[in-house]
Amino acid sequence: MASSALICDTEQWKDLKAHVDDIKKTHLRELMSDPERCKSMMVEFDGILLDYSRQCATLQTMNKLFKLAEAACLKEKINKMFNGERINSTENRSVLHVALRAPRDAVINSDGKNVVPDVWNVLDKIRDFSERVRSGSWVGATGKALTNVIAIGIGGSFLGPLFVHTALQTDPEAIECARGRQLRFLANVDPIDVARNITGLNPETTLVVVVSKTFTTAETMLNARTLREWISSALGPEAVSKHMVAVSTNLTLVEKFGIDPKNAFAFWDWVGGRYSVCSAVGVFPLSLQYGFSVVEKFLKGASSIDQHFYSAPFDQNIPVLLGLLSVWNVSFLGYPARAILPYSQALEKLAPHIQQVSMESNGKGVSIDGVALPYEAGEIDFGEPGTNGQHSFYQLIHQGRVIPCDFIGIVKSQQPVYLKGEVVSNHDELMSNFFAQPDALAYGKTPQQLQSENVSQHLIPHKTFSGNRPSLSLLLPSLSAYNVGQLLAFYEHRIAVEGFIWGINSFDQWGVELGKSLASQVRKQLHASRQKGQPVEGFNFSTTTMLNRYLQESSD
Ligand code: F6P
Repeated sequence: MASSALICDTEQWKDLKAHVDDIKKTHLRELMSDPERCKSMMVEFDGILLDYSRQCATLQTMNKLFKLAEAACLKEKINKMFNGERINSTENRSVLHVALRAPRDAVINSDGKNVVPDVWNVLDKIRDFSERVRSGSWVGATGKALTNVIAIGIGGSFLGPLFVHTALQTDPEAIECARGRQLRFLANVDPIDVARNITGLNPETTLVVVVSKTFTTAETMLNARTLREWISSALGPEAVSKHMVAVSTNLTLVEKFGIDPKNAFAFWDWVGGRYSVCSAVGVFPLSLQYGFSVVEKFLKGASSIDQHFYSAPFDQNIPVLLGLLSVWNVSFLGYPARAILPYSQALEKLAPHIQQVSMESNGKGVSIDGVALPYEAGEIDFGEPGTNGQHSFYQLIHQGRVIPCDFIGIVKSQQPVYLKGEVVSNHDELMSNFFAQPDALAYGKTPQQLQSENVSQHLIPHKTFSGNRPSLSLLLPSLSAYNVGQLLAFYEHRIAVEGFIWGINSFDQWGVELGKSLASQVRKQLHASRQKGQPVEGFNFSTTTMLNRYLQESSD
């Protein structure tokens, strides 16, 4: 396929379009009755089992999807990513988050330079600094150990680290390593978030880490100035150097802000914000909390999936299979959303993180060459841990709209509980739901079944479940730091696969700019109007009315 051609013009895309009718005629009940098909739709790698037999797809569908991958030059695109080519063409950058978790002796080039030694220089610096803080050899201005950390950052400089922190918080090994320490995240510019973060903390024992790739993000910089004031008003301005450190690609701005660049941890423009959790963005705050050795296991888990993604044949390649199935659901079956349903409370921040990785990456309207797409790209991602979600939005998934679901289950709980006298353990109870839901969605319940159960006639339509609702299941052996790294990399690569097939640039995010520049115009006007005590003008009728109401009532 020529680089500027659209994937929807290929024979392979058209062939899949033609195949949709056959699939829509076949109920999942029927597909699930073929054990050979189900067997070949289970793939295992490094302890993780993927079961995609409950997708509305046959083996023929899969073959057609593999042909589509070929037509989209998927293998070549993956290779280009790993080889450091500048595949983020609108920003003229390579996309090398895989280098962040590569082993020390790996060679990954960007512009002819092996970046792995630079990565490890920063990792070694993080190990050293975090150990000094944790052991109490780096202390605050009044000589007290810094046991609390507030990480300031937003978007990719927040969601990934929060996801990993939440996942590790109840891991027995991580608990041991985090004893006596606290890690908090300040993201929102809402003063309520500042108040929540500093409540109960003493500046004397708090280290603030400002995390920003650009060091220009308005919300992060205002929060950073706010906490700088919190520290200096309590301990004097000279305390800032002991209590504030940074993670950024822009060390010049870090220094201008008043943070010693010696206490800053670098990363590089080949790391996209939403793909930066394995850089100092995540590794530094997490190492302060859990120690570097725990975080290194997380990096190793991600690296294992990187190798798998790079080298496994497509029919055994979990991220490729996940990505192709998503394209099938969105572009062919017409299901634009995806529910992420981990049956683990420790994964409660997985969906918020994947929302950014997926929707900021693939929410695009033009191809990588700037041609308007005649098909929708991207997915609407949302989710909640099971079973909480079951008591919230599953009604719609069972009897309303069709939303393909990712069920994620864990074999060994981080916190097993066996109550005396109960039939099953708490974890077995949770997992019973994990196993039941995919079949409920796939099989549904027919009016005939309801009749045989003597359900009243008038209730039969209400109690009927059409079924034929696709899902896939991932079973992880446990939720160690290593497994969390694996899970992260599955999603990161799946999303890249989707973007590679759709022919878009999954690594830029121009869509967030317009709102930012309009906010800056509003900010200027608000400031001027407050100073002069005059109403704002120059916006449309609706915005002007709302702004003036706000101005008037907030200055009362
Ligand atoms: O919201 C847009 C965005 O640029 C994200 O892509 C990024 O993760 C976030 O802002 C934060 O940016 P920075 O790390 O530069 O502060």
